Amino acid sequence: MKKIYIKTWGCQMNEYDSSIISNLLLNQKKYFLVNKPEDANILILNTCSIREKAKEKLFHQLGRWKKLKEKNSKIIIAVGGCVATQEGEEIYKRANYIDIIFGTQTIHRLPNMIEKVKKEKKFLIDISFPTKEKFDALLKPRHSKISSYISIIEGCNKFCSFCIVPYTRGIEVSRKCDDILFEIISLANKGIKEIHLLGQNVNAYRGKTAYGGICSFSELIELISEIDEIKRIRFTTSHPVEFTDEIINVYKKVPKLVNFLHLPIQSGSNRILNLMKRGHSVLDYKQIINKLLLIRPNMQISSDFIVGFPGETELDFHKTMELIEEINFDMSFSFIYSPRPGTPASIMSDKNVSLQEKKNRLYLLQKKIRKQAFNWTKKMMNSIQLVLVEGVSKKNITELYGKTENNRIAYFQGISTMIGKFVKVKITHTFIHSVRGIFVDYVN
Ligand code: SAH
Ligand code: SF4
Ligand code: F3S
Repeated sequence: MKKIYIKTWGCQMNEYDSSIISNLLLNQKKYFLVNKPEDANILILNTCSIREKAKEKLFHQLGRWKKLKEKNSKIIIAVGGCVATQEGEEIYKRANYIDIIFGTQTIHRLPNMIEKVKKEKKFLIDISFPTKEKFDALLKPRHSKISSYISIIEGCNKFCSFCIVPYTRGIEVSRKCDDILFEIISLANKGIKEIHLLGQNVNAYRGKTAYGGICSFSELIELISEIDEIKRIRFTTSHPVEFTDEIINVYKKVPKLVNFLHLPIQSGSNRILNLMKRGHSVLDYKQIINKLLLIRPNMQISSDFIVGFPGETELDFHKTMELIEEINFDMSFSFIYSPRPGTPASIMSDKNVSLQEKKNRLYLLQKKIRKQAFNWTKKMMNSIQLVLVEGVSKKNITELYGKTENNRIAYFQGISTMIGKFVKVKITHTFIHSVRGIFVDYVN
């Protein structure tokens, strides 16, 4: 019972959770990861329920794994993540060949649950919300990479009318400030140069300090910036409501904070923002951006958009398109609204716009954003970019790749000793999301 296969759907939070699961199991030394479910005897599925067909997708996947279990009854199947937290026992009722259901906040208990199932051969479920206990488990050392995600806050209290996340991830719980700093320092000692702070609403962060005080998000960033080896700081996702002046001013104080911000707005119409219960207006959003641009005139902004929210008119959609142009959003995520069971929006009347029309709106929106993103990339032509080199290109082994500050993948001819370092690259070709260039120099 040693070979583990983990399949992950959903956001960076889920990816992060899966990496914690695999590290907790690998730390026990008796497990190892395999790349194909056919080779495994422990199958773990980390699910997402943000948009439609989440349940169908889950049962479809479980059906495939059931076949493997029919051939080998010793296989253990564990289902976790947001669908598991939301649906709980219902999943077992429809698929009684699974062994474990774990929640978004109980990933750290999975190793023990696996041991118990091995011994007792009985179905186990734990979808409770012991978030602080989960944070303590995060302190286990992780594999050294070049850039690392760090969870700083779990959950969400915003309850936007369309969104399932507060129900699947629980309320906002911040991780202790010193635990975060300790983890970053140990990562920095292992060679990590870039850290990416994670949470559904990172700017709601209020973590306890060792001296009984509270550390805000902006204070946390300042503290992290004092760690010399960390040269770049990113974060996802922030929310306009708590994007305070204090946070805006950190962009003045901390050059390590990248010139790129992902700040979801969802719609350019105040009427729709109200129905979505986002808690801010289009003007509030523009004010944040304008203040940021005064400090960082070249800052690139990306966002999330939902089209076809119940009651969205042609005019509402038009306002979203106007805002996209005005802010000149860079590459962004956009989706057709999907009713999520149990959310307030799911019972709003949604008959005024056909699916075809929603698809058309999404198409127009994505086309516009792609064009703007390409324009942002084209501006990089002939410039010198700082690239944090991540590895050898899969398509061409003579090339290395890394990320620019504005989230473009940069390819260039280089040598393997450059991996993990910052280098200067002169851009010679531009594509929508990537660039190609020539190595110019190392950066000290
Ligand atoms: N906390 C972040 C985003 C979390 S979910 C924020 O508030 O911005 C990521 C994105 O999924 C959302 O920004 C939204 O654009 C999209 N999304 C969430 N629920 C959705 C739904 N019911 N239908 C379609 N898209 C949805
Ligand atoms: Fe969902 Fe809104 Fe929370 Fe984002 S802020 S996770 S969209 S409820
Ligand atoms: Fe999906 Fe849960 Fe993330 S619903 S988007 S995996 S928080």
